[in-house]
Amino acid sequence: MQNYVRIAGTGSYLPEKILTNFDLEKMVETSDEWIRTRTGIAQRHIAAKDEATSDMGAVAATNALEMAGMTPEDIDLIIVATITPDVPFPNTGCYIQKKIGAKNATAFSVEAACSGFVFASDVAVSMLDGKRYKRALVVGAEKMSSIVDWEDRSTCVLFGDAAGAMILEAVENEEENSYIGAQLGTDGNFSDILYVPGGGSRMPLDEIALNEKLNCLRMSGQEVFKQAVNTMSRVSVDLLGQTGIDFDQVRWLVPHQANIRIINAIRKKLRLPEERCYVNVDRIGNSSAATIPVAIDEIVRNGDIQKGDLLLTVAFGGGLTWGSSILRWTKD
Ligand code: COA
Repeated sequence: MQNYVRIAGTGSYLPEKILTNFDLEKMVETSDEWIRTRTGIAQRHIAAKDEATSDMGAVAATNALEMAGMTPEDIDLIIVATITPDVPFPNTGCYIQKKIGAKNATAFSVEAACSGFVFASDVAVSMLDGKRYKRALVVGAEKMSSIVDWEDRSTCVLFGDAAGAMILEAVENEEENSYIGAQLGTDGNFSDILYVPGGGSRMPLDEIALNEKLNCLRMSGQEVFKQAVNTMSRVSVDLLGQTGIDFDQVRWLVPHQANIRIINAIRKKLRLPEERCYVNVDRIGNSSAATIPVAIDEIVRNGDIQKGDLLLTVAFGGGLTWGSSILRWTKD
């Protein structure tokens, strides 16, 4: 029997502390005007010092479970997308498992930077064969503030912390199917335009590395911008073509929230009107793997989606990695 996958619930979490552009003006040589016009960002959320990625992910997961009407014991698979794990190992999924008490789950993490949630959901769907795994918790959670160089104005204004979650459940009835399709891709040739140089086996963090801030994110802004627009437009057009879905049928474009200029360029290439493109980068900034599940949860909780509506997600990140998926909301 063919198996399908439905979205049973969504959840999200934003840390309490808000860092505005005006706060940043006091930290680096920048201005609210520069940040707004170049990025569309007005503020971002910053996790507390003792708040790790799994703490944020666990709250988002609990909210998603509540919407799904499930208990943590119902979950048999946890996949966490993050590039800011609590520690190198154990994987952040294990910490979330422990925190929410999902004792029947198998947990692991995937690392695909800002495309992480699209990757993790696709892995979950492929594992939800209904025999081994029935209910997956997919989380995108990032404490980007922990890898940002707070003295580098060209990067520190862009990022924020957040977590989003989605419960995916194997079902037999096609009418409940939420996962229409996905396309993923990577190109390691561009690995040096957006990366963290140190902290891994290539460059363990000794005193010299820390002095040079090799534990912090590095980025070639303009090259990333160009690649992001081209790649995200291409993969979403390809996916629509592959699934035979027309732009007009898409209720919401849910793009990775990196920069309003990138989002608008993609939207224009796809000829989608502004009111069908979800934007929260102004309030949240770029929270990497968390942007897409947070955006979807906001759409759902704001009541801006109806049964049968299609969402086109598209993401791009360091690697390079990219991915797009078409989701259908099938809950009443
Ligand atoms: N405040 C004020 N000035 C700043 C600044 C800041 N926060 N950051 C950079 N500048 C300065 C630069 O030093 C440069 O000054 P100069 O002309 O005197 O050398 C000038 O602004 C222009 O810098 P540039 O890098 O050309 O700006 P830009 O128009 O490309 O915008 C980004 C910079 C980072 C906003 C833009 O390249 C971008 O959004 N790239 C994609 C980033 C991204 O989304 N990454 C994550 C992808 S998942």
